[in-house]
Amino acid sequence: MALDVVILAAGQGTRMRSEKPKVLHALAGKPMVRHVIDTAMELGTHRLHVVIGHGGNQVRESLADCSVEFALQSEQKGTGHAVAQAKDKLADGKVLVLYGDVPLIRHETLATLLDEVNEQRMALLTVTLDDPTGYGRIKRDTEGRPVAIVEHKDASESERAITECNTGIMAMTATQLRRWLPQLSAENVQGEYYLTDVIAMAAEEGTAIATAQPATPVEVEGVNNRLQLARLERAYQFAQAEQLMTDGVALADPARLDVRGSLRCGRDVEIDVGCIFEGEVELADGVRVGPYCVIRNSKIGAASVIEAHSVLEGAILEGKSRIGPFARLRPGTRLAEGARIGNFVETKNAILGEGAKINHLSYVGDARLGREVNIGAGTITCNYDGANKHLTEIGNHAFIGSNTALVAPVKVGEGATVGAGSTISRDVEAGALALTRERQMSKQNWPRPQKTPTQEH
Ligand code: UD1
Ligand code: CA
Repeated sequence: MALDVVILAAGQGTRMRSEKPKVLHALAGKPMVRHVIDTAMELGTHRLHVVIGHGGNQVRESLADCSVEFALQSEQKGTGHAVAQAKDKLADGKVLVLYGDVPLIRHETLATLLDEVNEQRMALLTVTLDDPTGYGRIKRDTEGRPVAIVEHKDASESERAITECNTGIMAMTATQLRRWLPQLSAENVQGEYYLTDVIAMAAEEGTAIATAQPATPVEVEGVNNRLQLARLERAYQFAQAEQLMTDGVALADPARLDVRGSLRCGRDVEIDVGCIFEGEVELADGVRVGPYCVIRNSKIGAASVIEAHSVLEGAILEGKSRIGPFARLRPGTRLAEGARIGNFVETKNAILGEGAKINHLSYVGDARLGREVNIGAGTITCNYDGANKHLTEIGNHAFIGSNTALVAPVKVGEGATVGAGSTISRDVEAGALALTRERQMSKQNWPRPQKTPTQEH
């Protein structure tokens, strides 16, 4: 059976107090609505419809790379009215209604719900809450069958005592939905077309209503303000930390880890507190990450150690490397086994051979370093002439003395040595010593200037 998913995202989200539409606020580095879209895709969804309204163009732009259809709800007349905007685009299969501001719903929960749906039965996701204030309440008959949802604002005192609540998430066939939507009316306290009224319609015509519950309430929590978003962020991060620990990763503190993307770890990986992983990151067996590192779209080979406060982006380490503390590896940095980058070193588009070392205070960009190359402290590749970037190539076992400027394009041959403080603008032959510094001079017994006595003003 075809599956259409309708995601409601037209609401304003006033309480976020933001220019950005609510559903675009990020959870774990990704807009909330994208979490919902990704979850929907895991269900084998045939078509995704996002109902937009407030900030609709921004939502449209932000989702330009997703294969979703947009339905514009120019006036927000209620959840039933919102779903109706996508009605004509639905195939003759099942329809699932989701919300762009309920980001943590799990596909397993939704699959259970969808399994219940056929022409004789729809399905509703409910949750029992200690404080149901504000939620629609599930009314059941004496046999326990749902008969209606009453919105909090329309509910009587006794109805408000019901703690089983509507999550808003429901599934039915497109045929059922097309039959029910035109019958909705806005005769209620809020003057809105309530999607929830389809429950009473189903009950009345004898269509069964199956109910299911999420594994935890956090799955169905909606975001209305930044505090709620932050709470869901922590819940999401803790769940990721739990999974990593279950998989054998040693986390110094599961409450102090942020994964904004995917983190894949080998065996015996250790991660200290305060680390942030973004995009796709892989840590192979035995990798240790010190405190407060930021690692984005990088692959860290086995037995590498990333010391405290290092920032890596788009880096590939083949293994047994030691990085930092306080190192910055920018995109295109690639280290063969055992290469080392020490404190206050920045690299960009730099390839280091096996065992090469840049231990202190250097900038190495657009460079190819052979094996066992040693770069002294304070060495800079002058890779940019103001218009173009140029390459620095350094052969195996070359030794670059401290405080050298390598003015690219330039090559230093295998086994060559560059004396400290040199400015190298011409190629250095293999095995040679290149030195551009001034010869040192000394004056014997030189009298140091004396401080003149301070004068009265
Ligand atoms: C809704 C349910 C309520 C449920 C609660 C769960 C209805 C009538 N009520 O109430 O039973 O307990 O969710 O959170 O459905 N939206 C649109 N267009 C509109 C109206 C809403 O896109 O015209 C979107 C909003 O952006 C929001 C979602 O639908 O994401 C829910 O709307 P909201 O007004 O917050 O409904 P509630 O009053 O919370
Ligand atoms: Ca709401």
